[in-house]
Amino acid sequence: MIVAGEALKTKHARYVLTPWLAQGNLQPPMIVRGEGIYLYDDDGQRYADLTSGLIAVNLGHGHPGVRAAMHAQVDRLCFSPPNWFNDTRAELAEALVGLAPWGAEGGRAFFTTSGAAANEDAIKFARAVTGRAKVLAAYRSFHGSGAGSATLTGENRRWYNEPTNVMPGVVHFWTPFPYRSPFFTDDPAEETRRALQHVAETIAAENPNAVAAILIEPVIGSNGVIVFPPGYLAGLRALCDAHGILLVFDEVMTGFGRVGAAFGGERFGVVPDLMTIAKGVTSGYVPLGGVLIRERYARGFDDKPLPAGHTYSGHPLAMATGVATLQAYRDGDLFARAKAIESRLRAGLERVRDAHEIVGEVRGAGAFFALEFVSDRKTRAPLVPWQGTSMGPMPSLFAGLKKRGAYGFGRYNVMHIAPPLIITDDQIDEVVATIDGAVGDLSEAHAAARG
Ligand SMILES: Cc1ncc(COP(=O)(O)O)c(C=O)c1O
Repeated sequence: MIVAGEALKTKHARYVLTPWLAQGNLQPPMIVRGEGIYLYDDDGQRYADLTSGLIAVNLGHGHPGVRAAMHAQVDRLCFSPPNWFNDTRAELAEALVGLAPWGAEGGRAFFTTSGAAANEDAIKFARAVTGRAKVLAAYRSFHGSGAGSATLTGENRRWYNEPTNVMPGVVHFWTPFPYRSPFFTDDPAEETRRALQHVAETIAAENPNAVAAILIEPVIGSNGVIVFPPGYLAGLRALCDAHGILLVFDEVMTGFGRVGAAFGGERFGVVPDLMTIAKGVTSGYVPLGGVLIRERYARGFDDKPLPAGHTYSGHPLAMATGVATLQAYRDGDLFARAKAIESRLRAGLERVRDAHEIVGEVRGAGAFFALEFVSDRKTRAPLVPWQGTSMGPMPSLFAGLKKRGAYGFGRYNVMHIAPPLIITDDQIDEVVATIDGAVGDLSEAHAAARG
């Protein structure tokens, strides 16, 4: 006899298409409730959310203040035409510009419903502002799965889009990756120097006067939480300034405290011309994305039409959620808290690394970390190949997390750790212990496969 929970799972599998995965044999828990850093399934089993959902739920689940603001907005207004003004939209745009790094100059916000659309619109704006067409984006980046944003993406989630990429003029370049240097050096300063030289040569080869923008995640997110060595982002800024190119930071993952400051640019002391946002702007509670653009460029749209629009641009429910989310970040001083989380989480993860040969590197910033797994620490041979077809023993890691009451995800040989910023010190210790156990399971599965 099928019990209720199994009937629901059967229904889900029967009717829902799950992102990025082969659909045939999916058996994840059925999540029905969330509170704080925990998710709960229909059996009442609790899972610590190690990655804030998809690096979005920075406030943790079910924040009371945000829920109250959402309820109040539902009771007052659930849709407002995007081409008429709206009170809550004005509030959120002002608050976002206040967080942006443009000081007295200020800026303006344009709202979308996803990070993907935000990146596509940011590129339209950069092209309109500069009158140039080309865009440089990084390999190992992810900018979304829309047709345009996938073209901007620098890894295999773009391949589904090829060879008919719909956004012409996108050129990819390599970025620093100290642990696996594409520039053949172990010295971070040399890595920065060579990587910047590579971008300079790419710009020269593409025609500096044809390049509208460089688009980059200030910390590479879903492709491995790669923190650039000092000077790299500042060097990109200088190259942009030298050639009249706009610098666009994709802050979809790194924004709203994730890396220990309001934005990644702020954490690393570099000011972009445009920023794209999503995820943490509403703590993931409702879909919202956006483009923030500094005033000197926004002004250009005062007498020519803005080349973008969406039915749900500045949707009141998303706006109210965003206003309340930003308030909650302020009330909890959570961007500073992320900085404090960094040292305890890093220390804990380094203990995991020290206990398990299979961990090649711990890296990250703020509350955004990764463990990279290797089959040989000396040679740094990846446990499973990047963008390969075999996941080897990696599923045992995620099975181990699930068994121990934790939700986590990763890509290939990398596991992400990005808990909600409300996590307590005790909870950090608890999740580190959970990760330690699951990494033990991974080591065992690896050893067993080796025989
Ligand atoms: C850096 C970055 N940019 C853009 C996106 C796409 O955002 P969305 O899924 O809201 O379209 C993501 C999603 O993970 C992301 O990590």
